[in-house]
Amino acid sequence: MDEPKETVAKAPVKPAIDSQKSAKSSTEKEATIYIDGKFFPEADAKISVFDHGLLYGDGIFEGIRFYNGRVFRLEEHLERLWDSARSICLEIPIGRGEMTEALLETIRQNGLREGYIRLIVTRGVGNLGLNPTQCKRPSIIIIATTIALYSKEVCEKGLTVVTCATRRTGAAALNPAVKSLNYLNNVMARIEANLAGADEALMLNEAGNVAECTADNVFIIKRGHIFTPPIAAGALRGITRAVVFDIAAELGLKIKETDITRHDVFVADECFLTGTAAEVIPVIKADGRVIGNGKPSAITLRMIKRFRELTRETGTPIFA
Ligand SMILES: Cc1ncc(COP(=O)(O)O)c(C=O)c1O
Repeated sequence: MDEPKETVAKAPVKPAIDSQKSAKSSTEKEATIYIDGKFFPEADAKISVFDHGLLYGDGIFEGIRFYNGRVFRLEEHLERLWDSARSICLEIPIGRGEMTEALLETIRQNGLREGYIRLIVTRGVGNLGLNPTQCKRPSIIIIATTIALYSKEVCEKGLTVVTCATRRTGAAALNPAVKSLNYLNNVMARIEANLAGADEALMLNEAGNVAECTADNVFIIKRGHIFTPPIAAGALRGITRAVVFDIAAELGLKIKETDITRHDVFVADECFLTGTAAEVIPVIKADGRVIGNGKPSAITLRMIKRFRELTRETGTPIFA
């Protein structure tokens, strides 16, 4: 196989996730991608077909946003990455300092001040057997690009969700706290939402309680109190979820982690989702039931406002 070419391209890149566009426009340039210490143009950024990340979904990842020249909650994302790695016995081949520099340099190489990073650590190249001992060195891939998960209109009006039949994986199978490359469970849920014409899928756990959505944590508000499922219900320990806890404390609002049923969602005054890609986004309909007055309401809007302020004011500087 030809050795991929290294480059130092600096240009805006196409959106990583954009429901509006599917092809690159003529003004969009190729992304520059980090793989194991080197930078490659998008077309040359390749990994082996024997990488167990591809063959078995054996690996971990993080989705991280940067705003206004700063990476938002970088330490927390790296902490979770290292926790995921430890849980699946994967040794990340570089230290946190080196990882931070690799992330920042990837953003710089792409000439971006706002965007989204996908950081992936695969088990590495092995053989066709699934035994990870065959994989001698994990691979690190970093993609820095722009992202627009939902249209501006959907972000302002709020999302519709449907409950899907696909259950969140139980902790006894694949613990949802591990942000692994194995997202087929969530992909199946997402397909159900697509087929139902909804924006997102509400995923339940084996007990029938709300766990989370396919890539977001769920919050509901009833009579001024905020509720969210506990991590043990099958929710990812979301970084944005934690930011919402911080904001609530700042605003003097209480959040209770408790089991939530579909009924609780139907009768909530407000509902919103949190995720790095989705940010803080209102939900206005669940399984055809209008939530509250069907519009993003007071507490959700206060959360969104403060969240936006924090994203612009805090974070690890990229160009310092
Ligand atoms: C399954 C799942 N739940 C929740 C979240 C939200 O987590 P965070 O706020 O850390 O992006 C994500 C996204 O990473 C996710 O994939």
